[in-house]
Amino acid sequence: MRHFTTMEQLEKQDIYELLEEAKRCKKQNGFKESSEAFIANVFYEPSTRTKLSFEAAEKRLGYTPLNVDCDHSSIQKGESLYDTVRTLQALGAAAVVIRHPENNYYNQLQDISIPIINGGDGSGQHPSQSLLDMFTIYEEFGTFQGVRVAIIGDVLHSRVAGSNISALQKLGAEVIVAGPSEWTKRVDQSLNVMTVDEAVANADVVMMLRVQHERHVETLDMRNYHEAYGLTVERAETMKETSIIMHPGPFNRDVEIASELVECHKSRIFTQVENGVFCRMAIINAMVRANLVQELKGVM
Ligand code: CP
Repeated sequence: MRHFTTMEQLEKQDIYELLEEAKRCKKQNGFKESSEAFIANVFYEPSTRTKLSFEAAEKRLGYTPLNVDCDHSSIQKGESLYDTVRTLQALGAAAVVIRHPENNYYNQLQDISIPIINGGDGSGQHPSQSLLDMFTIYEEFGTFQGVRVAIIGDVLHSRVAGSNISALQKLGAEVIVAGPSEWTKRVDQSLNVMTVDEAVANADVVMMLRVQHERHVETLDMRNYHEAYGLTVERAETMKETSIIMHPGPFNRDVEIASELVECHKSRIFTQVENGVFCRMAIINAMVRANLVQELKGVM
């Protein structure tokens, strides 16, 4: 595996190895593996959590983050994605983290010899978010077998849903989806659909999704969204005693989730953010090491 681009590419064993590596990173909290090498971060779309937690992970591992300012780089002069990344490779980056609005953008980067780590592609995949979500669920329940995860909201346009459905099914969890009917279908994935009320009451994990306005063709009337499809305080009261609330963020308070639930005792939303750093450390370690092994094989 040269690039880290989708959850589909990972075998069950790969996911468990990354989860164990993340656990080790969390335990050791702050060890350094590398020095002087740098990792480039190229975000063509806005980000707080992914960008900053990759940067934090790089610093904790001893790498220097090189943040490409897309608004003031030659991207503004029309430089292509390939040429930008090829330039970063020539500058000596050990890996490149990329967020891009185009689904499968990484297909045009197959000839790049340093690891491409996908920080989110359009409505396609968000594998590093998925790994931290898997880590948070595994930490909570100690298993995926029999854990029922309800993914609720804009499933169609969510790259987090894209990656999580695939990873959860692979790991043996039960996935259910709920939300507006036009958003609970993904052509590439077979899904068990329930009403929001049924999903919230029956799930072990209630995973709420942001409405992805930026990927919608038509404007939606959001006035009744919270009551119709959101996690209201009343709905949360029907959750099982042991069940938890997750959200990849950024969250819209009182739209998909009631403001007072964001930090309630069932919420793991900020645990997800914390775990994101350790999971991204694990991904960087695995990818850079694998690339070094490939380079050494090439020399021998
Ligand atoms: N969850 C997530 O990808 O958040 P950001 O857009 O802030 O990176």
